[in-house]
Amino acid sequence: MRYSIVSLVLAAVSTVSGLPNHPKKNLIMMVSDGFGPASEVAARAYIQQSQKYPEDYMTNLDKLLIGSSRTRSSDSFVTDSAAGAVVFASGVKTYNNALGVDRNGVPVGTNMEAAHRLGYKTGVVVKSYITDATPAAFASHVLERDMNSLIAEQMAGLIPEVGRNLDLMFGGGKCTFMSNSTKGSCRADNRDIISEMKAAGWTTTENRDEFNKIPANVKLPVSGMYAIKNVPYAIDYPINDVPSLPEMAKKALDILSEATKNSEYGFYVMIEGSRIDHAGHDNDLGTHIREIIEYYETIKVVSEFIDANPNTVMISTSDHETGGLTLGRDNKYVFRPLVYANQTMSIDISCAGLLERPLKDRGAYVTEKMLPVHLGMSNVTEAIASKVLASKIRADCLLAMSDALNRDSNINWSSLGHSGVDVNLYAKGATTEQLAGNHENTDIGKWLTKYLDVDVNAVTKELAKINVNQYPYTRAPSTYVFDYISHD
Ligand SMILES: *[C@@H]1O[C@H](CO)[C@@H](O)[C@H](O)[C@H]1NC(C)=O
Ligand SMILES: *[C@@H]1O[C@H](CO)[C@@H](O)[C@H](O)[C@H]1NC(C)=O
Ligand SMILES: *[C@@H]1O[C@H](CO)[C@@H](O)[C@H](O)[C@H]1NC(C)=O
Ligand SMILES: *[C@@H]1O[C@H](CO)[C@@H](O)[C@H](O)[C@H]1NC(C)=O
Ligand SMILES: [Zn+2]
Repeated sequence: MRYSIVSLVLAAVSTVSGLPNHPKKNLIMMVSDGFGPASEVAARAYIQQSQKYPEDYMTNLDKLLIGSSRTRSSDSFVTDSAAGAVVFASGVKTYNNALGVDRNGVPVGTNMEAAHRLGYKTGVVVKSYITDATPAAFASHVLERDMNSLIAEQMAGLIPEVGRNLDLMFGGGKCTFMSNSTKGSCRADNRDIISEMKAAGWTTTENRDEFNKIPANVKLPVSGMYAIKNVPYAIDYPINDVPSLPEMAKKALDILSEATKNSEYGFYVMIEGSRIDHAGHDNDLGTHIREIIEYYETIKVVSEFIDANPNTVMISTSDHETGGLTLGRDNKYVFRPLVYANQTMSIDISCAGLLERPLKDRGAYVTEKMLPVHLGMSNVTEAIASKVLASKIRADCLLAMSDALNRDSNINWSSLGHSGVDVNLYAKGATTEQLAGNHENTDIGKWLTKYLDVDVNAVTKELAKINVNQYPYTRAPSTYVFDYISHD
């Protein structure tokens, strides 16, 4: 610790207790949900071929590679996004589905909560529900990730024992903040959380116009809920007027840097490419690639911010891989990324259009819209069309549509869920080289805490008696302890 004359003088006039021995700094944690190594190659190959770049082309992320992260949770080699984010927020392994609690269901403080208590400004910027697992892991504490109604109250700062820990939240999932008497609500009760937030001092915004008008010096805390459910996929932006992830990230950085310009402390924001994962779950490579490209654009926004503000660092990694993507199949040594170049709509939205139509209209929709326009196929066969048309439920349609292109591109997916492979680790900014190499994912959270120089254990002590159980759930904390020696 260095106490200069200047800092002693500053401390004397400071409103913050204690000496300002923290050099002012900002932390940007980027999470690419469900983005594994095969997806990286698919997106890179797609960009390289479609832009006619040389074969040694490097993406915005490739240039920042420093290592890799292991992804297992406390109870499985295949994590979910809840346990996969708790490691970053709290530095501890926990069971799949847990948020802000350890493997015994006991609340653990997060580095974002500790940073907020110290004087940092904090935020989350996502494309999923704001209450979805990754953002929720930074500012909520529940036994099961499905407890969205309680998560919303905690993230909004409406539970006194938890306090308000966020100054900014941008994303989707407005439904968890709407009374169950409102159409589209996904809350368990009739509380109107958005009105409660306004009464508690939040500046709230709910659409593109209001987003555009948020000034950099907006009164904090500020929220932006730009979709009832998830913010649409990038490939579907042409039919949805919503702010994109890079736009939300840029706005968040402007707001948080403005809010801290005269402060001894900087800001800490978590930015998530949430729907890379969703497209993986749908086995929809064209949509997956466009979500990844949007994530690269977000990395560019963040990189430029760091170039202009060198007291800022960024870490970017994934919580896990999704879909078990393989580039190559049927013993053929081929992968054709450009098969996805003419896709114009996510399989998710295209299939929803099929299933909401009366049976008599479906044939024309498949042969005139879904295959030639949405997937951009130039040679639609009878076999492919009848398989899509035969879909009775969403899952059948997703598989038939995915399959329609996978043979031409010569790829395959092995799962509709997650896999257990290591994921890449990227970083930019002073001291991040300390994270070089292969790491257990908990090391990343511990490093974030160390970088911020905050006391997470003090928060854990404060949270010991909070309610982590949302009615009507009554989950008992996990009693199954993963056997590290087991070969299962
Ligand atoms: C809405 O929430 C109230 C409690 O706030 C509950 O009594 C009621 O059953 C809920 N209605 C529905 C349709 O879930
Ligand atoms: C995409 O569309 C263009 C223009 O119609 C066409 O030339 C090209 O062959 C199509 N690509 C694929 C993979 O179908
Ligand atoms: C579709 O066209 C492409 C390129 O012309 C060809 O390689 C592929 O085999 C065709 N697919 C089918 C199912 O006919
Ligand atoms: C593709 O993966 C599915 C499982 O997702 C499997 O049933 C199928 O046999 C695979 N196809 C090839 C050609 O490997
Ligand atoms: Zn997932």
